[in-house]
Amino acid sequence: MKKDFYTLGIETTCDETSASVLKNGTELVSNVVYSQTDIHKKFKGVVPELASRAHSMKMASVVKQAISKLGTKPKIDVVAFASGPGLPGALLVGRVGAELLSRMYNAKLIGVNHLEGHLLACDFKEGTAKTQLTFPLIGLIVSGGHTELWIGKNYGDYKLIGRTRDDAVGEAFDKVAKLLDLGYPGGPKVSQLAQKFRSSGKECKIKFPRPYMRGTFEFSFSGVKTAVSYFLRDNKKFNKDEVCYAFEEAVVDTLIYKVLEAVKYYKIKAIAVGGGVSANKWLRKRLGEECDKRKIKLYFSEPMYCSDNAAMIALAGYKKFKKLGKKNFNIEINPNMIIDSWRD
Ligand SMILES: Nc1ncnc2c1ncn2[C@@H]1O[C@H](COP(=O)(O)OP(=O)(O)OP(=O)(O)O)[C@@H](O)[C@H]1O
Ligand SMILES: [Mg+2]
Repeated sequence: MKKDFYTLGIETTCDETSASVLKNGTELVSNVVYSQTDIHKKFKGVVPELASRAHSMKMASVVKQAISKLGTKPKIDVVAFASGPGLPGALLVGRVGAELLSRMYNAKLIGVNHLEGHLLACDFKEGTAKTQLTFPLIGLIVSGGHTELWIGKNYGDYKLIGRTRDDAVGEAFDKVAKLLDLGYPGGPKVSQLAQKFRSSGKECKIKFPRPYMRGTFEFSFSGVKTAVSYFLRDNKKFNKDEVCYAFEEAVVDTLIYKVLEAVKYYKIKAIAVGGGVSANKWLRKRLGEECDKRKIKLYFSEPMYCSDNAAMIALAGYKKFKKLGKKNFNIEINPNMIIDSWRD
């Protein structure tokens, strides 16, 4: 009888401490996520030193909870951890924890690109990794720290074709929320107020620029954020909901324009969207409509897997292990890691 194969995923790149167990590469046994939001919200942003400390405080209990379902003598075959990109101190905590666990369980240790995890999160459906993604595809990563376009030829075979020159889209959402005093993280709140304005049926009198950066696959969101700050400076009275609406429209129009340009240029008929901003309902709806019209396959992860979690790291680690076999993997952390094809 074939033995079950267990992958333990560890995620500590930013402000979530997470551990997850994936059975046979498909069945999600656990996905424990501890979010540090309460620690960082009074600073209206992530404080790296506090993030590292919180990871080191929480790691043991989060891992314990994640493996508790495996009984008193758990068998772990692979420990996969997010080795970059992310905050250096936070990554180090993950690396030390993962290495220790791999030695304890005599398991293979694998470093995984956190952003690849975000993309592969599209494979999860109701706690099962179903391998839904069809390749080739255009990957759109929209997260707190990154906004990127990739060509994905297969699992582990990626090429970066463009990224933001300045702010990431999630960062722009958070900065606009800060300007409007909406709390941290602000993306969901901005989106909620935008939706409120949208459903009010009122006419929007504000228009923010769309940074299309024509002829490139690069992004730039700092100008939109600056336009919002100038608007707030120059207008004593304004409706917050309307500002959020105008901002969200500008950002979503831009993301859709860019990803559809990539699809057209590379003649690829599938898009997968990953990262925290992929939870944005307006982006999901609008991009869904555009893809339906063009008969493009579109993948989003289920909302609970859009933000940072270790399930996506376990899945990426499992796939990497299956493809590259049992040799030693690169386990160096790299805060500025860029997506590339698997080589290690
Ligand atoms: N519904 C939403 N609409 C817009 N933005 C959102 C929404 N939900 C979450 N976000 C944004 O997503 C970001 C968090 O995403 P994620 O956890 O992937 O980022 P990160 O891990 O900090 O960055 P990275 O993945 O680049 O390292 C935050 O900027 C947050 O405001
Ligand atoms: Mg992330």
